[in-house]
Amino acid sequence: MPRPTDHLDARLAPEQRTELLLRHMTLEEKIGQMCQYVGETSLGRADNADEITGYALALGEKVELVRSGRVGSFLKVPGPVEANFLQDLAAESRLGIPLLIGTDAIHGHGMDLAAATIFPSPIGLAASFDTNLAERVAACTAREMRATGFHWSFSPNVDIVRDARWGRTGETFGEDTRLVAELGAAFVRGYQGSALGREQVLACAKHLVGGGAPENGLNGAPAEISERTLEEFYYPPFERAVAAGVYTIMPSHNEVGGVPCHADRRLLTERLRGRWGFQGFVVSDWLDIERLHSVHRVAATRRAADALAVRAGVDMHMHGGGFFDSVRELVVAGELSLERIDAAVRPILKAKFALGLFEDCRAHGDRIQSVVLCDAHRALALEASRKSIVLLANDRGVLPLGGVRRVLVTGPCADDQSLLGDWARLQPSENVVSVLAGIRAAAPDGTRVEHAPTGPVGGMTDSQIAAAARAANAADVIVAVLGENSLRDNPERTSGENVDRASLDLPGRQCELLEALAASGKPVVVILVNGAPIASEAVARHAAAILEAWEPGMYGGTALGEVLFGVTNPSGKLPMTLPRSAGHIKAFYNQRPSTHHRGKLRFAATDPWYRFGHGLSYATIAYRGLRAASTLRAGDALPVEVTLENTSQRAAEEVVLLYLQDLYASVTRPVLELCAFQRQRLEPGQTCSVQLVIPPEAFSLLDVDLERRIEPGEFRVVAGSGALEHRVWVE
Ligand code: BGC
Repeated sequence: MPRPTDHLDARLAPEQRTELLLRHMTLEEKIGQMCQYVGETSLGRADNADEITGYALALGEKVELVRSGRVGSFLKVPGPVEANFLQDLAAESRLGIPLLIGTDAIHGHGMDLAAATIFPSPIGLAASFDTNLAERVAACTAREMRATGFHWSFSPNVDIVRDARWGRTGETFGEDTRLVAELGAAFVRGYQGSALGREQVLACAKHLVGGGAPENGLNGAPAEISERTLEEFYYPPFERAVAAGVYTIMPSHNEVGGVPCHADRRLLTERLRGRWGFQGFVVSDWLDIERLHSVHRVAATRRAADALAVRAGVDMHMHGGGFFDSVRELVVAGELSLERIDAAVRPILKAKFALGLFEDCRAHGDRIQSVVLCDAHRALALEASRKSIVLLANDRGVLPLGGVRRVLVTGPCADDQSLLGDWARLQPSENVVSVLAGIRAAAPDGTRVEHAPTGPVGGMTDSQIAAAARAANAADVIVAVLGENSLRDNPERTSGENVDRASLDLPGRQCELLEALAASGKPVVVILVNGAPIASEAVARHAAAILEAWEPGMYGGTALGEVLFGVTNPSGKLPMTLPRSAGHIKAFYNQRPSTHHRGKLRFAATDPWYRFGHGLSYATIAYRGLRAASTLRAGDALPVEVTLENTSQRAAEEVVLLYLQDLYASVTRPVLELCAFQRQRLEPGQTCSVQLVIPPEAFSLLDVDLERRIEPGEFRVVAGSGALEHRVWVE
């Protein structure tokens, strides 16, 4: 039989081509499109090795499956050579449908490529409060992916995090719904462009819902969230991603209220497709359909689990055998309809057409040469690092460093790749500027930079601590680079996926090191390298200045060196409240009014260490005026003008945060809620006005029946850290 070719006419719309192709497909070929497998050579890698081998198929079996058109997608494909190898196999199948190759390129394409542009972890990007930057980062990642034969990024992670114990906090945009929603939408725009084409990749908003709210911070544990809190805080970033056209959605590992998300039809079909209008496809998370049977126990057999998930709305199964056979049996037995199969396959095929995979799905050597790690991408990585660093404290004015002769750099994160963060493999050393190297490069003539090496985050010896303390005595200033290590390839990592924390303090012997350094009497600047927040009494007590670097990516060292010596003025702000300890969880800024009205902790301060939105600058920015109408018609937006003056001699970038408080309402409302934000550059001495718009829905609430409406009444508009206030009456 000759191969059908009518769907190959690239002049036709993806929808038409999809229908033409569907008509030629057998049931097996259709179900094949719903199946995803891991690339063979990932076997044996450190992360998830057991889970991969446990569920993987032998190479020969997998080759046969692809050749027979029973595979739609792959993940964990280690590089362009294997990507092309798999596509060649797919091309041999009866219909030659190309494979969709996905990866977790959440802050650069660092999981499956030996060398790529690595940006700050998403929590650092969030600290920039710069949606345009986020969009460019995702677009750049998409270009590197397409050049190397990848088409789908499992990102953005739009989980809201109010519990920093969760080891995956670093891969999120933090605690605030508006910030998360705006950055998530920016990522979607960056990955997918204004229309899918040959430079774009599919985005994936995850983990629906409550992935960032597991009990005790334990990844995958139940998320107990009230319907109101889901509606107010957890759903909106997903709804926003859908409005931005996100093509795929990944449910979360966890259950909410007794229903595992992978089995939740009300969530994955009624809400996602019915209410929000989602048009793409839902991919299960890693082995989560299997866990409906093996962990959640809502399905007595594996086959029942597959049926439950597909009926709930899962369209593609992430990784491994078994699913294909179950689904075929279910259809043959009349337990799953053919319509349901077509509905799952349609958006998968449409994506392949829209991405141009039928015309070209492969990696190309020349594109890899010209695109991956090109100068523009490297420059963007540095820009992102610069904007993500948050100056938490500078009480004694020790920063920026000036006129110092001897700087001692020490600490476990000073000279390694911990600044790359999770979801990136170790990179070639010439592509990464460590903190030590960055400080050396930025130090002016006459400043000597010395290094006292310590062991890794988890293992420092007595003699290393003693040597660092001795070196401290001879220095003018000490830079202690402390924190976590969430690197994928590090079996000793202290945070990251499936590495959650009972304490937010510095792991290992880092506090001891800090105390020994402080005993020298010399000022200690602490640089924190971490994805999930650190809260440390020792840092609070001993540091003369604290820089929260997050995991600043491949050029984090360069940016930190510049910040230390004042070449770059720090401008990031916290996208997450830092509690004082794990015992202070939950600490988030948009709390209900009664949170702090009576209870006081007996042996500790009750308030957070640093609140959402905190971040200092070397410049002084005065908030001079806030202008807005004093009455507003319900349903209208409120334009607001904030006047700023840079009263210092340094150029600065100020992130203007605008908050809203509904003063009296029929239900309790948060004490403050971020309603608009904007980054603004100010030259020395410059005065300027920033125009922001508070969108109409920011004035709405969910009434006692969970119906959204706007109640007339007075609202407080607050700019920055409370310097300016304005009242507006909504009619
Ligand atoms: C994570 C997902 C990720 C997937 C594939 C899972 O363990 O929860 O976020 O996309 O693995 O790597």
